[in-house]
Order: sequence, then C-alpha cells, then structure tokens
Amino acid sequence: MASSEEIQTLILTTLDTQGNIENTDSLRTADGAPIPYLAVVGVLNSLASKQMVTYTTIEKDHYSLTAEGNEIADSGSHEAKVFNAVDPKQGITIAELTNLLGPSAKIGQGKAFKNKWIKKESDILIREVTSIVDLTQQDVLEIRETGTHSNPATLKDLQSRKHVEKAKLISYSVSKGPKFSLTIEKQATDLTADMLANGSWRTLTFKKYNFAGNPPQGGHLHPLMKVREEFRKIFFELGFEEMPTNKYVESSFWNFDALFQPQQHPARDAHDTFFLLAHLTLEHLVHVDPATSSNFSDMEYVNRVKEVHSHGGYGSIGYGYDWKIEEAEKLILRTHTTSVSSNMLYRLAQETKANGGVFRPAKFFSIDRVYRNETVDATHLAEFHQVEGVIADKNLTLGDLIGFMQVFFEKMGIPSIKFKPAFNPYTEPSMEIFSWHPGLEKWVELGNSGMFRPEMLGAMGLDPDVRVIAWGLGLERPTMIKYGLDNIRELLGHKVDLDMIQSNSACRLDKKMGKELVGRDAVIA
Ligand SMILES: *[C@@H]1O[C@H](CO)[C@@H](O)[C@H](O)[C@H]1NC(C)=O
Ligand SMILES: *[C@@H]1O[C@H](CO)[C@@H](O)[C@H](O)[C@H]1NC(C)=O
Ligand SMILES: *[C@@H]1O[C@H](CO)[C@@H](O)[C@H](O)[C@H]1NC(C)=O
Ligand SMILES: *[C@@H]1O[C@H](CO)[C@@H](O)[C@H](O)[C@H]1NC(C)=O
Repeated sequence: MASSEEIQTLILTTLDTQGNIENTDSLRTADGAPIPYLAVVGVLNSLASKQMVTYTTIEKDHYSLTAEGNEIADSGSHEAKVFNAVDPKQGITIAELTNLLGPSAKIGQGKAFKNKWIKKESDILIREVTSIVDLTQQDVLEIRETGTHSNPATLKDLQSRKHVEKAKLISYSVSKGPKFSLTIEKQATDLTADMLANGSWRTLTFKKYNFAGNPPQGGHLHPLMKVREEFRKIFFELGFEEMPTNKYVESSFWNFDALFQPQQHPARDAHDTFFLLAHLTLEHLVHVDPATSSNFSDMEYVNRVKEVHSHGGYGSIGYGYDWKIEEAEKLILRTHTTSVSSNMLYRLAQETKANGGVFRPAKFFSIDRVYRNETVDATHLAEFHQVEGVIADKNLTLGDLIGFMQVFFEKMGIPSIKFKPAFNPYTEPSMEIFSWHPGLEKWVELGNSGMFRPEMLGAMGLDPDVRVIAWGLGLERPTMIKYGLDNIRELLGHKVDLDMIQSNSACRLDKKMGKELVGRDAVIA
C-alpha cells in the first residue's frame, strides 16, 4: 500500500499537471493500484488545513454481486439451468430435475414457466422453445463489470432477489487551494523570542491551534457556591470577618435561648425544627448520639439568660415564665446561622472582659446551611443557605442600619430599597427590606434586618453602649434568578442536571445582576 507521503506527492503532482482532480477514484499508485478512500481523505485533510488544496466529497452508489449473484454470472440463472436440464426430445420428470439441480430446480421452474421456456405435459417437463437467452446472467455480468446497471428497475429487482447488494462509494474532487505548492512548507508550532528578535516570524507560517479535544473531567463549582463566593467578596470588601459555621448541630440554647426566643415559641416545635434523636448502643448502654447537650462552660451566663427570660433585666420585663434548662439542652439542626452569631457575640463579650473592658468593634458574616421542617415544594427545601451579616459597635443606631443596608445592597446592584417594620423575637426594632421589582411592578422582600435586643446582649456581658445590627437573606433565590431556574429541585437534590453544574457560567454580582435580581418574575425572600 502507498504511504501517505506517496499519496501526497501523487495528488500534488496530478494537480500541478492537470489543474484539478475530478475524481480521486482515477488515482493510481506507481504499480497501478487504486488508493483506499480513507488514505486519500487523511492526506486531503492535512493539505486542506494548510490551504494547499480544497476538496468536495463525491458519494456514489456502487452495486456488487452477492455469492449467489456471482454463481449466476459464472454458470447461468436458475431458470436457464432448468431449461438446459430439460432434454429437447424426451423432457424430464420433476424428480429427475430435482435430483440433478438440487434447490435450483425449485427456484428456476417458476421463472422458466413464466418465460414460457418450458411446460408440463402429464408430469413431464418439456421445452416450449428451442433456445433461450439468459437475460439474468447478462444483467449480473453487466453489474459485475460496471458496478451498476443501465436499468434502475433491474437493479431493484436483482437486489430484492438477493443477487446484488448496494454500497456507498466515497471519493473526492480536488482543486488547488490558495497556498498550493508542490513542496510542503514546514509550519512553525511555537512563536519564540528568537523569531521575534530576528523578524523571521513575519514570513513563517504557523500551525493553527487545534482546540478540539476532550474537556477535562474535573470538579465543577455548584452555582450556589459561585453566588456565595460573590457575596463573600462583598463582605470582605466591606471589612467583614467570616464566622465559623461548621456546627450544623446546635443546642437549643444558642439557637433560641441566647437569642431571647421563649421556650414556648412555635418555632421551637417539631413542626418547624428538626430535633435530634438519641441512639443507644445496647452493648455499652451509653448514648453514642445524644439528643441533648448539657456541657455549658459558663453556667453564670446560662443563669443570666434564665433570669432574663423568667423575670427580665437590662431594661426588659422578660417573658414571665418558668425557664427550663432541659429545653435549652435539646440538640437540633440549627434553624438559622444566627445561632453562630449569638455565640460569636458572647465570645466578643468574653474578649472585652479579658481585655480589661476594652471593646473591639466587630463585623461578622456567614453564609451556610440551615434546616427547617418545611413541606418541600418548588420554592422550599428543608435545608437552605442563609446569608447573614452582623455589626457590633458602640452607640450604633437604626440610622446606621438603614445606611449600611443601602451600601450593602448597592454593592449587589440594587440601588433603591425600602424598609417595613417587622417583628423578630431577638431584634427590636426589626425591619423587612424591600426592593422595587419592575417586572411585577411592586416592592418585593429581599431580606430581614434589625438591632439585637439589649436583654440578649446585656446577658452576654456586653457593655450597654454596645449595639449590634444584623440582617439576613437567602442564597437560593438570587442563585435561581441568576441561573434562570424556576424550581429549587433543579438546583439541589437528586433531580439536579449535572450538565447544568458543569456548564453554567461564572457569576458576577455586578450592576446587571442586581437588575436581574429585582427585574424578574420572582420574589426574593
Ligand atoms: C531566526 O531565529 C529562528 C529561531 O532561533 C531561527 O530558526 C531562524 O533561522 C532565524 N532566522 C534568521 C533569518 O536569522
Ligand atoms: C415535621 O413536621 C411534620 C408536621 O408538619 C411532622 O409530622 C414531622 O414529624 C416533622 N418531622 C420531624 C423530623 O420532626
Ligand atoms: C465541653 O465543652 C468544652 C468546650 O467548651 C470541650 O472542650 C469539652 O470537650 C466538652 N465536653 C464534652 C463532654 O462534650
Ligand atoms: C455612646 O453614647 C453614650 C450616651 O449617649 C455616651 O456617653 C458615649 O460616650 C457614647 N460612646 C461613643 C463611643 O460614642
């Protein structure tokens, strides 16, 4: 077989002498052999990539004989065999015929009758004509020689009789390309400093980049994580510290009691909150997965919380009920990341005490999962992400909160926000944050905010001058809007399309994103 260099030379010299190659079928190697089309196309592709040739593909039907077709071409059709077997004078019995011709006897008889070559007289087959022309044999011979037949109906008929089969023949028509030449210029693959220095890059031809290939199978960031990253950047730009949120199981104390949320509050019910169940190992009769935690390191603080709930303090009259430590000991899946914030504020108070009462203003944020016993639907899951920010400083006012919210949401590309008074057990005053939705033509809720209650901060040991402002919003809603998802189950859970995760775009919370956030038919909450 010819090497690709030989085929290349053959194509280039043929083009040079003939101007073009009408059909590569006509190409022959030095020893007269045709060239397989796969070898031709390999060379043509390489030459075309260098713009030395252009080519088009020619597809042609090619007919060839089956084994049976070849047998007919060599020794005649079944019907001719039958005719020849019939003795011109005495005829032949069917038994004798079958004996002589085997299966051909049966196949050939019908056609021989139809052609009126033979007839039957009292169980003997006799000739009706003296000589015949075997057209079928002629037809298959023509096909064997030319690869086709002048009559399409004959081709169809012979195909259906399984004498002939059809295949596609591929060949090419080739012309000179703009960079045609008899010699192949070596293409440079690298642009080097030397080439730039000596100017040779001006005249060199460079190999085209070939970006085709398999995309690497690597990890891909989930859209939620991309949006989370953008929120984190905003917080870092504004000088916030990230809180450690790796405690998904929390005691009711930090999740509720420390936040001055009374023990009878409906949120503390199994309908809303996931409580942990204890697991006992029978062998050791010990709790390996406890449902409660009584490891309170600062019982004085716990008692101050108890006092504030039961009888008040720090300017509060309290709730006036019998606070029970058993309720505070119950372990739950945290219902908000505010449990982490309350712990961080307590630590801030401890730090102030350790510093001889010198208070350090703090800005904290967190973005992580929280859990609620929600009925799952298109916009709710039992776990979701909360974005939370907390600022602690002396003498902060509601004006600081409003002003800061404007700065924060402007960074997200949301320029105009409004506030509506609301109720939260642990903040007073509390405000829901709204943004104008041009699509819905109404104000939609973006998140929640407020100032932590003095009876919560005072019990922690923070100075009465210290005020803490806080706000929170969801992560899922902005992500769904950003990535055009209508159903939260397309974002999280077993119905998530992994291709979506692999191919979704990077997230930029720029001005446009802000417009998207409030510009689409969705409520942000
Ligand atoms: C320029 O530098 C390249 C790379 O070193 C070298 O191959 C080439 O021969 C040089 N050409 C001239 C004209 O000096
Ligand atoms: C969640 O709440 C439903 C009632 O709304 C209750 O039947 C179910 O037991 C709760 N699930 C858990 C794990 O507490
Ligand atoms: C109790 O909490 C402290 C930290 O406050 C920790 O070092 C200790 O291991 C905990 N003990 C138990 C039994 O969980
Ligand atoms: C906070 O306000 C109190 C009372 O108005 C004032 O005495 C104190 O100096 C203020 N602290 C700061 C840091 O401004």
